[in-house]
Amino acid sequence: MEGLGAKLGMGLPARLFYIALRISPPNIRSRMWKSLYQRMARSHKDPEFKFMNYGFKDNYPPTLSPEDEPNRIFIQLYHMNVRDTDLEGKEILEIGSGRGGGASWISKTMNPKSLVALDYSEKAVNRCIEWYSSQENLIFLEGNAENLPFEDETFDVVYNVESSHCYGNIPAFLDETYRVLRKGGNFCWTDMRDQKTMDEMHEQFLHSGFSIESRKEITDNVLEALSVIDTDRRELIRNSAPPSLRKSFETFGGVPGTPIFSALETGKIGYFRYLLSKP
Ligand SMILES: C[S@@+](CC[C@H](N)C(=O)[O-])C[C@H]1O[C@@H](n2cnc3c(N)ncnc32)[C@H](O)[C@@H]1O
Repeated sequence: MEGLGAKLGMGLPARLFYIALRISPPNIRSRMWKSLYQRMARSHKDPEFKFMNYGFKDNYPPTLSPEDEPNRIFIQLYHMNVRDTDLEGKEILEIGSGRGGGASWISKTMNPKSLVALDYSEKAVNRCIEWYSSQENLIFLEGNAENLPFEDETFDVVYNVESSHCYGNIPAFLDETYRVLRKGGNFCWTDMRDQKTMDEMHEQFLHSGFSIESRKEITDNVLEALSVIDTDRRELIRNSAPPSLRKSFETFGGVPGTPIFSALETGKIGYFRYLLSKP
């Protein structure tokens, strides 16, 4: 996403945010995203608002319980990301768990031994601790993707959903993920990037020691999902963001007709999924 903001023709606050992201050193960039997510966790108290991703329109949709149906489109992004990996009885880590909806669904339905869900917004983590306290195999923890608070080889599977575009130091994130995975473990990654940054990241995966099991571009599925959630997302933003920031929130929310959606449509940005393993 770096280098893209000024070209996208965003509303002023979103454009300033992108310009600042581009010119800031990595630690400042990461702190800017953190302040945005802290602010969202502070102002959005509704426990029904559990996901912050763009969603995935799936040709092989999972069966969901009636209580999970309203979040189907967001759950499908999680399901697509982990479905080729057996999670049953395993020790799992999610990095960048946000409002916890994905971790909660996986820990309920895929029967891992334990799932640690980590995010660097302590306000989001505190909300999750309160909302999901009844799930015994699920723990929420504050921490930074670039400096994970775990011993070497602690987890069988690590997954990461639409979070890594916020990180200041991708090589540090990948080295840390590799370090905390056990040998033979899987890393399931999905997020958006412009093609040049994705090509760099492909090399960074290899440089950290991962083997690439499979890779796929899923932009069309994400665009379809963004169209499905369009009305609800606009309403959420209308009801919660001050008028001066609505356009920016719509842009970051991927609302059709706004610059990030258009960049996905025209191919300036793609949405990708990698399944990696630690040899
Ligand atoms: C777009 S949200 C996605 C949240 C969740 N994965 C979902 O799909 O609903 C990105 C999340 O990444 C988290 N995040 C960003 N940078 C992080 C970092 N360096 N370490 C841990 N979490 C981070 C943010 O706090 C935010 O919750």
